[in-house]
Amino acid sequence: MTDLPGRGQLRQQLREARRALSPAQQQQASSMLAGQLQSLSRFTEARRIAAYLANDGEPELTDVISHCQLSDIAVSLPVLHPLTHKHLLFLDYHADTPMRVNRFNIAEPALATRSIRLIEEHDLILMPLVGFDAQGNRLGMGGGFYDRTLAHHRDNPHRPLLAGIAHTCQQVEQLPVAPWDVPCDIIVTPDKIWLFDKSM
Ligand SMILES: Nc1ncnc2c1ncn2[C@@H]1O[C@H](COP(=O)(O)OP(=O)(O)OP(=O)(O)O)[C@@H](O)[C@H]1O
Ligand SMILES: [Mg+2]
Repeated sequence: MTDLPGRGQLRQQLREARRALSPAQQQQASSMLAGQLQSLSRFTEARRIAAYLANDGEPELTDVISHCQLSDIAVSLPVLHPLTHKHLLFLDYHADTPMRVNRFNIAEPALATRSIRLIEEHDLILMPLVGFDAQGNRLGMGGGFYDRTLAHHRDNPHRPLLAGIAHTCQQVEQLPVAPWDVPCDIIVTPDKIWLFDKSM
């Protein structure tokens, strides 16, 4: 499958916009995002969430992860699947988890079978994104990692809530959407939460 026309250029513009944010703007976004998440019972009552370590100007989840570690909410991080092409695994993450750097130069927990957590074990998955629209569509970095990993869980009513985490400047009027794109149930930015899941 090839990508839709225009998505490459859109990714480039939106990635430049988020990388242009100053350290002070990034810091403020990170703390406001943590505040927004703490207003959601799906977060405060979660037993386990999946987060990510920020890369390429993505919103930092440092404050969110610290809050979880203080509140008995277990945290997983994505790891590139060692066997299944362009899929992710989610591994348990603590302050003392041994880390390694993957081929995208992103830190991830070192692979250990006992640390693997199934998708169904999470209440909430926080997903980075490059672009989003007011319908909950998500444009990622173009690898299809989240799309492939979540494809078989899309229609499972017991699956985790899928939350796109974004800077305000990542919103576009309308994204070109491909059939394989897994949409967000909610999108959280520093100043607004969009709810698309009718159960929320
Ligand atoms: N469920 C799937 N099965 C097979 N191929 C897929 C699937 N989902 C996505 N792909 C492939 O992955 C490629 C990248 O997808 P896409 O451009 O939507 O990535 P993305 O959403 O930007 O990335 P990510 O999911 O990593 O955030 C597509 O060209 C598509 O062919
Ligand atoms: Mg996609």
